[in-house]
Order: sequence, then C-alpha cells, then structure tokens
Amino acid sequence: MEDLTGKVAFITGGANGIGFGMARAFLAEGMKVVIADWSEHNLGKAKDTLRGNNAVYFLKTDVADREALRPSIDEALEAFGKIHVLCNNAGVNGGGTADDPTFEDWDKVMSVNLGGVINCTKMIVPIIKQQQEGGHVVCTSSMAGVVPLPGRAAYSASKYAVRGYAESLRMQLAPLGIGVSCLFPGATRTGMLRPPEDEPETDFREKEANEFQKALWDAARDAIDPLDSGRAVVDAIKENRFYIFTNREFLEEVKERDREMEAAFPEQDPPAGRLKFETMRAQMARDLLLPGNRPVAAEGGDANFGLTFIPNAKE
Ligand SMILES: NC(=O)c1ccc[n+]([C@@H]2O[C@H](COP(=O)([O-])OP(=O)(O)OC[C@H]3O[C@@H](n4cnc5c(N)ncnc54)[C@H](O)[C@@H]3O)[C@@H](O)[C@H]2O)c1
Repeated sequence: MEDLTGKVAFITGGANGIGFGMARAFLAEGMKVVIADWSEHNLGKAKDTLRGNNAVYFLKTDVADREALRPSIDEALEAFGKIHVLCNNAGVNGGGTADDPTFEDWDKVMSVNLGGVINCTKMIVPIIKQQQEGGHVVCTSSMAGVVPLPGRAAYSASKYAVRGYAESLRMQLAPLGIGVSCLFPGATRTGMLRPPEDEPETDFREKEANEFQKALWDAARDAIDPLDSGRAVVDAIKENRFYIFTNREFLEEVKERDREMEAAFPEQDPPAGRLKFETMRAQMARDLLLPGNRPVAAEGGDANFGLTFIPNAKE
C-alpha cells in the first residue's frame, strides 16, 4: 500500500507504547485509526493526548477474549466503515520460566501474545479480503522472537510463534494483494520498559541494583522512541517489506545464531526425492511473494499445502 491517506488502521494495544506510536505515525499519514486496548487507564491517556482529533476511534476490548472481540470489530466498522491495516500489537510481559510448575502465567502470555494475534487476524483479514482494496497486516513480535531471553521461555515462545505465524500469513495473503510485516522491537521506551526515573511511585534502589539491572536501565534510557517504531512501520507498509528491525545492537548476535545453525547441518547431500520436493516447495514460497501471482489448489492436493501457482495470473 503506497498511499495510506484515508485508509483505516485497527491497532491492538494501541493506547500506549509502540501501538500508540503506530497510531500517531498513521494519523500523520492522513489515516483513520481505531485504537483497541483493554486498559481504561491507557485509553484515557491516549484520548487526552489526541483530544479533538476525529480521525481516531477508541475501543475498549481484550484481544484474548473472542466473545468480546467480535462486537468490538463491528463497532470499529460502524465508526469508519472499513479496515485496511490490522496491527496485531497487544502484548504482555512475563509468563515465567520453562520449569515454573504453574500454568496461569504461561496461559495468559500465550492467550494475549499469540492468541490475540490469531483472533484478530481470523476476524479482520476476511473483512480486508472482502473489501478488495488491498491491505496490510503488521504483527509485533520481539527481538525475543529471534534471539530468546534466558528465563523467559513463555514470552520468547510466544514471540517466536508470532514470527512463524506472520511468515506463513505473508505467503498466504501476498497473492491477494495483502501485505504482511513483522516488527521485532528491542529496547523501546514504553510501559514495558522504563528507567526508574519514569516510575516515581516505585522505590528503586539504584545503589543496590546489580550491574545487569543497571545496564537494563541504561538501555531503557537509550531506548527507541515508540513514534520512531511507528514511522518504521509506515515505511514497511509502503514498501511492502516483511522484516522491521529497529535495534541494530542485535545484528552480531543474529549473525552468530545463523552461523551456528548453518554449522549444525549434516555434511551428506540429501537423496533425490527429498531434494526435489524441498526445491519445489521453496520455489513455491518464493513465487507466492511475486506480485500478481495467484495460488490455486493443486489437483488432488488440499487448499493449504498442495498449492500450485498460475504465474502472474489475472483474477
Ligand atoms: N517495549 C519493548 O522494549 C518491547 C520489546 C519487544 C517487544 N515488544 C512488544 O511490543 C508490543 C507493544 O508493547 P509495548 O512495549 O508498547 O508495551 P505497553 O505496555 O506500553 O503497551 C502495550 C499495550 O497493550 C495493551 N494490552 C495488553 N494486553 C492487551 C489485551 N489482551 N487486549 C488489548 N490490549 C492489551 C496494554 O493495555 C497497553 O496499552 C508487545 O507485543 C510487546 O511484547 C516491546
């Protein structure tokens, strides 16, 4: 989508942090924005900041609650008539460690960070498709979806899952003229990452903090401004680019991980059958992303995996 003027975005977790940065960047492009968030407090703050702007509609909803979500989406459609851009951004921290014996935290993180993405996509993408005006889906993963955080298995798992979901969705929607991008924030100054001076109500004892904690606070002080994250999202939508990285400090670690994976492959060449199939599958995936290509179900195959392609077919 090169021209965003007049298009409508639905942003989950849009009342604070990165989502609110997206909202402000979209408004600057002349878009209409639905800010969907479950926090009364954050919605109130966002309303105050954007007071008098009638290109914004505020919606209190929980992305993990399917029953609540459907009427919320209807309400957004009543407000602005259409939805062109879906930003699956709402997320929560935490989730405990891999061997934490309880399930509550794990279920909560998964139901919001992954479940919310799936719920909104399943309910809103059919609307975008039906409009036949193109569109874009943005999913907020995390650098923890590329290089996992120690001791944060649930959060990392949820963000890896969002990345996998977004990559698959990208191939599925490309032939329909609907783009997909995935945002991988590192330290960004939001409700999730704040230096102690931003939290005067909390009794932070800087002197007692260990070196790691102090370094984290310094990272928070130097963190990305969420409005810049929002602008990076605007650029990616216009360029139809999948990966959105905002924090260059991760580059070496990502390269190391790639080298470790490469070195772990077996030396021996694969047998012909496997090689042929995987070459075809990889080419299919590449072809799907070419503008104008349209998938059809292969004869005898199912519509999801047994796809074949009509190169540059016109509808
Ligand atoms: N801030 C960072 O450094 C950072 C780093 C990596 C990834 N992220 C990701 O960025 C996204 C946005 O987080 P943020 O940093 O802006 O945090 P934030 O807490 O400032 O904003 C998140 C917003 O999502 C809302 N929200 C949470 N759960 C919701 C739900 N179930 N339904 C509707 N709204 C809900 C919150 O009320 C809040 O307004 C998250 O997915 C997070 O995992 C953030």
